[in-house]
Amino acid sequence: MKPIQVGLLGIGTVGSGTFNVLKRNQQDIQGRAGRGIEITMVADLDVARAQSVVGPDVKVVNDARAVIANPDIDIVIELIGGYGIAKALVLEAIAAGKHVVTANKALLAVHGTEIFAAASAKGVMVAFEAAVAGGIPIIKALREGLTANRIQWIAGIINGTTNFILSEMRDKGLDFDVVLKEAQRLGYAEADPTFDIEGVDAAHKVTLMSAIAFGIPVQFDKAYVEGITKLGAADIKYAEQLGYRIKLLGITKRTPAGIELRVHPTLVPAKRLIANVEGAMNAVMAHGDAVGTTLYYGKGAGSEPTASAVIADLVDITRLHTADAAQRVPHLAFQPDAISNTPVLAMSEVVTSYYLRLRVADEAGVLAKVTGLLAEAGISIDAVLQREADEISGEAATQTDVIILTHDCAEAKMNAALAQMQALPTVLQPITRIRKEELA
Ligand code: NDP
Ligand code: HSE
Repeated sequence: MKPIQVGLLGIGTVGSGTFNVLKRNQQDIQGRAGRGIEITMVADLDVARAQSVVGPDVKVVNDARAVIANPDIDIVIELIGGYGIAKALVLEAIAAGKHVVTANKALLAVHGTEIFAAASAKGVMVAFEAAVAGGIPIIKALREGLTANRIQWIAGIINGTTNFILSEMRDKGLDFDVVLKEAQRLGYAEADPTFDIEGVDAAHKVTLMSAIAFGIPVQFDKAYVEGITKLGAADIKYAEQLGYRIKLLGITKRTPAGIELRVHPTLVPAKRLIANVEGAMNAVMAHGDAVGTTLYYGKGAGSEPTASAVIADLVDITRLHTADAAQRVPHLAFQPDAISNTPVLAMSEVVTSYYLRLRVADEAGVLAKVTGLLAEAGISIDAVLQREADEISGEAATQTDVIILTHDCAEAKMNAALAQMQALPTVLQPITRIRKEELA
């Protein structure tokens, strides 16, 4: 059978990995797909560089629309990124009846509903394994491998840049800014690294997983997003002393009131496997009622790890290309008429436990006042630790850090208690609040 023809839009980090892996493993890939898969046309702004990657036999153009317009192209891979031209090109490719593969989590998390609807109407597939956790086949696992389950929760380290930064800060005592520069040099960070460090990239990814796990539309605008820029070295150290590590987690949970969808720094017990995922590696835990807790680990970024996921999508599409559209795996795991309107909860409604750090005057009665306010609010304390504030040598005798771990309570209740504690004259700095998950 004639090879399926693929057009590639954007041949940067992931695009070049895709081209190279497809070429290198051509025979095995064909054996699995049942048909050859060939990238026959590439669009990139830098035509000369693109041509040097693909060699003289592949047509390279600088106009992505020429690829979409080519009637021989069956599948379009979008590896440009962002919401701008990428969105227009994906919608145009769908309108032209092409299947689409993309690694663009930002695009799908924000415009996924429109894109999937357009694809369903046209009877084409939009595949996005590479958009979440790079080389880890987590979309496949959630959408197909766990299909028997009522999924209860997912928690993942799904941004390599921030995990690298947190690991280096903890291991080497390095400053945030120094480690961020290193992450950019190593190519982990997004074009705009604020997406990484402010939690936006992780929120894009957990939004997609949430939709697949719970059969709800993609709703990035409902996600609570908090990054790692305000984390201090002191909190990383205190968490360690209490038996926890701090990770930037993307969390989505089914609760009786609705779906939790959130990204924030999280204390995780140091004994959990996920707490020991270091550097730029990713890991996702998914808990289903039948299977229990499962864990997926691997490289969440990089040229060939991400290409591995892009090519898996190419193979899936090649196998299902001729199948009736109704027989294909639905984009969001559930058939369009089974997508539910279960609400995504506001952060104030989320129930979790907390780590609090208060810089207080080292005087009699201060701790009693603080714990008294928590008791009045009905918030139960799990552990208390008091430490000298070692970074302020001259005043060390008059100030101290009090660290409190609480049991579960609603975020709104904690917000009210924090406001009262903050107003105490003996609380000398803004209180640090980090959420805690046992992931048992
Ligand atoms: P790169 O910036 O390395 O590559 C993007 C390429 O697209 C560049 O070669 C760029 O050319 C080209 N391009 C830009 N505009 C156009 C256009 N209008 N027409 C044709 N080509 C264009 O990005 P990545 O490969 O890192 O990322 C691609 C996508 O994959 C993004 O959505 C990203 O979020 C996602 N992703 C990336 C991962 C990674 O590890 N890098 C991991 C998982 C997902 P030029 O350089 O000349 O501007
Ligand atoms: N910037 C992302 C990360 C790339 O650091 O994980 C993979 O999506």
